[in-house]
Amino acid sequence: MKKALITGITGQDGSYLTELLLEKGYEVYGIIRRSSTFGTERIEHLYQDPHNHPKLRLIYGDLTDGGNLSTILSDIQPDEVYNLGAQSHVRVSFDQPIYTVNVDALGTLRLLEAVRMMKKPPRFYQASSSEMYGKVVETPQTEKTPFYPRSPYGCAKVYSFWQTVNYREAYNLFACNGILFNHESPRRGETFVTRKITRAATRIKLGLQEKVYLGNLDAKRDWGFAGDYVEAMWRMLQADQPDDYVVATSQTHSVREFLDEVFGYLELDWEKYVEIDPRYFRPTEVDVLLGDASKARKVLGWLPKVTMKQLARMMVEADMKLAQDEKVIKEHRAK
Ligand code: NAP
Ligand code: GDD
Repeated sequence: MKKALITGITGQDGSYLTELLLEKGYEVYGIIRRSSTFGTERIEHLYQDPHNHPKLRLIYGDLTDGGNLSTILSDIQPDEVYNLGAQSHVRVSFDQPIYTVNVDALGTLRLLEAVRMMKKPPRFYQASSSEMYGKVVETPQTEKTPFYPRSPYGCAKVYSFWQTVNYREAYNLFACNGILFNHESPRRGETFVTRKITRAATRIKLGLQEKVYLGNLDAKRDWGFAGDYVEAMWRMLQADQPDDYVVATSQTHSVREFLDEVFGYLELDWEKYVEIDPRYFRPTEVDVLLGDASKARKVLGWLPKVTMKQLARMMVEADMKLAQDEKVIKEHRAK
């Protein structure tokens, strides 16, 4: 039985990847951070399922603690390591640049060092990002497009990208970068724009909320479904050779178009409910991202299955259930 270690297992991607690996018969180990609340909602259904015992195990750790990462690796001796842990919010990285770099850049280096020290180093996946292209120098973006990051987050991810390449070349590690374009799901964090919109629109529809405050509506993103994208991560670590791959849908849409799709599906006119709040503008913005995933298609046989429209509807349907539950609770309390 193969063993995988995942940092960021409690996040959106961590939860989908855990599902995928358990289905494939892996023993999955996840690093979680101690906090005063649980924070394991996204993997609760997997953890509670008796079929997964003892195949899913959670261990306390943190990307800021290199000694702890080494201990975890030598205790587990995984075959594959997926480094998904990060302070992943671009806007927040302007408020907390040093923390973001500590986790997203140095955290990767700490983990790579721990991997390199092992007698039998595991295969390594690094969660690289389309944010590295930033102020894009060509469209669409491929594995050969130069980076021009526009945020502390983007800069930290560029650092981790090159450390991963360097460890592959210097120490012959099987280390891969997945350059993933934006991917969303019903499990997306609620402060990212797609989920913020689907949460707000469904609550507005049920009369639980009146307005939603957003920033730049002209930004364009290549949005795919997280469930499709974790499959690409796994395929990278099963390939014959380690390499770097763009993972994207090759379609781009503006925030405005996403609003049209979501509010239109709910038969609402978003212009009546959306207000612009400059707090959500970024000091430097990434205006448009569009990926070319033909290398992943050719070498890994990977293709996205869900379009932006299907994704928007999937998220609306899930958030409508949440909003309905909230409405029942609200009405019950009012009695
Ligand atoms: P996410 O939902 O924000 O999850 C981030 C995960 O990292 C959480 O499990 C979080 O733990 C963990 N984490 C944060 N700080 C940590 C630390 N100091 N030590 C250990 N773990 C820490 O992010 P995601 O959307 O799943 O993305 C997964 C990875 O892919 C991230 O590296 C992100 O930067 C990258 N990425 C994402 C996208 C995208 O569109 N989603 C695109 C390209 C790349 P807590 O639950 O305790 O906070
Ligand atoms: N979050 C947020 N909130 N973004 C807004 C808002 C708002 O109220 N209004 C407009 N936007 C715009 C942002 O300015 C940005 O241009 C776009 O919507 C997308 O923002 P996010 O959903 O926060 O995602 P991101 O593109 O900045 O970053 C995500 O994708 C990266 C891959 O390109 C994150 O998941 C990163 O971790 C990931 O690397």
